Amino acid sequence: MKFFVDTADTAEIADLAATGLLDGVTTNPSLIAKSGRKFLDVIAEICALVDGPVSAEVTALDTPTMLKEAAVLRKIAPNVTIKAPLTWDGLKACKALSSEGVSVNVTLCFSANQALLAAKAGAAFISPFIGRLDDIGEDGMQLIRDIRTLYDNYPALKTEILAASIRSPEHVKQAALIGADVVTVPPSVLRDLAKHALTDKGLDAFMADWAKSGQTIL
Ligand code: G3P
Repeated sequence: MKFFVDTADTAEIADLAATGLLDGVTTNPSLIAKSGRKFLDVIAEICALVDGPVSAEVTALDTPTMLKEAAVLRKIAPNVTIKAPLTWDGLKACKALSSEGVSVNVTLCFSANQALLAAKAGAAFISPFIGRLDDIGEDGMQLIRDIRTLYDNYPALKTEILAASIRSPEHVKQAALIGADVVTVPPSVLRDLAKHALTDKGLDAFMADWAKSGQTIL
């Protein structure tokens, strides 16, 4: 499973990229607004920090303008993935871009049928939003299960399932068990994956016993 981080905070990205465990980055207009920085500058900085795909979202609602925006974003760096919303205009933009070999992440996916359309439009990634479905009382993870089954029924579809709107380590585990190709997570959730109370407790005990032994390795 690939780990992407879902943020426009370049300090966080630099720190996580240094671990060697980061496979890519996703951003969206809300995350860019939260950064308070210029969109194109942020994307350029992120692309220099990570080798993997960096999703940069178009903000137009019509296909022709989406394609013009995509042309600007693509010039930033070779690892830019164009993110487009799951609307008819977004799907048309996805089809046009993917036909030219451009990597597209189709976002705001809330149904398996939407995911099928994105795959037929040649999306490199489909982003089903787990947490937002949970927020309205639905089972977000069931959507990942359904898309996995649908895509596996048609091996010609090469779209990767990018589980998004991930809110907890449990979401990551469930998405991995189902076989999502990628998860994009907030930095705090990525860090939380390494935590366990028994790890901390066990390490404290080991260190206390080691101190009592009076030994050193170096
Ligand atoms: O990748 C999509 C993600 O940013 C949405 O997450 O927590 O705003 O639903 P959230």
